[in-house]
Amino acid sequence: MSTAALLGGTPVADFASQKPTLASGAALSRQLLVEAFDAGLWDDWPGTGSQADVFATEFAEFNGARRCALVTNGTHTLQLALEALDVGFGDEVIVPALTWQATASVVCDVNAVPILVDVDPQTMAIDPARVREAITERTRAVIPVHLYHRMADMDAILSICDEQGIACIEDAAHAHGSTWRDRHAGSMGRLGSFSFQRSKLMNCGEGGALITSDEQLFDRVMSLRNCGRTSPSGVKVHSGNYRLTALQAAVLRGELDALRKNADELDRRGRLLDDQIQNAPGVTPLFRSPNLTRQCSYGYAFLFDESAFDGLAAGVFRRALSAELGVGFGTCYEPLNQSPYYFPQEKRRHQLGDAYVAAIDPSRFDLPVAEKLWKHRVVQAHWPLFQLDPGDASLVGDAIQKVFENRQQLRQAA
Ligand SMILES: Cc1ncc(COP(=O)(O)O)c(C=O)c1O
Repeated sequence: MSTAALLGGTPVADFASQKPTLASGAALSRQLLVEAFDAGLWDDWPGTGSQADVFATEFAEFNGARRCALVTNGTHTLQLALEALDVGFGDEVIVPALTWQATASVVCDVNAVPILVDVDPQTMAIDPARVREAITERTRAVIPVHLYHRMADMDAILSICDEQGIACIEDAAHAHGSTWRDRHAGSMGRLGSFSFQRSKLMNCGEGGALITSDEQLFDRVMSLRNCGRTSPSGVKVHSGNYRLTALQAAVLRGELDALRKNADELDRRGRLLDDQIQNAPGVTPLFRSPNLTRQCSYGYAFLFDESAFDGLAAGVFRRALSAELGVGFGTCYEPLNQSPYYFPQEKRRHQLGDAYVAAIDPSRFDLPVAEKLWKHRVVQAHWPLFQLDPGDASLVGDAIQKVFENRQQLRQAA
């Protein structure tokens, strides 16, 4: 048995020094960015034929949606989706316990109440059974998040929404290009929200998009993102400025071109990594539904079993694996009732009365599945494992095997 890298042994690999192996859209982005700059079409005023018009059309088509509205970021997209559906004071919106705080914060930003529900222990996505339990006469919408590289069970969520007459807004910030029964993430709910922030699969620095096939909702979003200026069909609402720029859209056209080329390969690499985890000791891949027909992601997460490692703490396992592979492994987002970034009840803007403050206080929710995943089970690569040469995927399995063999020594050292 060779000594674990965390205990001074030689690491299995140095992934950080590897060159990216997926297609890049950088050259096209650069060319289109310069063209947009030279043409002087910098903003995204609709109908000017700017890169923003072109990208919005391309992104809608790519996702099989009729319409796409470009928005400042993937937080404002969710807020505008709620506003387009006229969700506001007195309403409740169901969101998963494990997500970036934006998914819930935006609900408070429209003065509604986020209802945090627990997640499925095998996929980390919102648990449809918990959604059903949480529905009240005030529920107006559910926001499933396609967390990391697994999609929420859209069959179950959509059927609950249909049956109960509530809206589904998909938060597809982690799922550009993924498909469920060959339908694109974001295209199945009333509205689908995307982020183009730096860490995402498509990146223009900061940015977002809402897709929908509902013309009336699209009209409302187009007016909402443009200070309430009338949309092409005359809808007018009170709002602010949530517009993107055509310069960002030019960058996104290159990113979309790369995603088209990489999407199937990302899926193949995800399956290869799952195979490695399936065959390694004491770890399991997240459950992959047969309905997840294509999975494109930038993050990779799997589940660790402390008891199979004779009580080795998940935190030590993550550090030991990081030392073996030369890139960081951590856990998932904190459950929202313990997030250092989510405490809306303390913001004066949200202090709309004692009942409202109590309702939005996240500590009132009990989220045991999310808490256990976060503390004890999830191992998430903080480096894009999908960029690995597929021939090197087996090194992940080798590194886990090595940590497993060193489990007693690692436990004693910890
Ligand atoms: C699941 C999820 N939803 C929404 C957002 C918000 O996107 P943005 O950072 O573009 O505002 C993020 C960003 O990390 C996210 O991960």
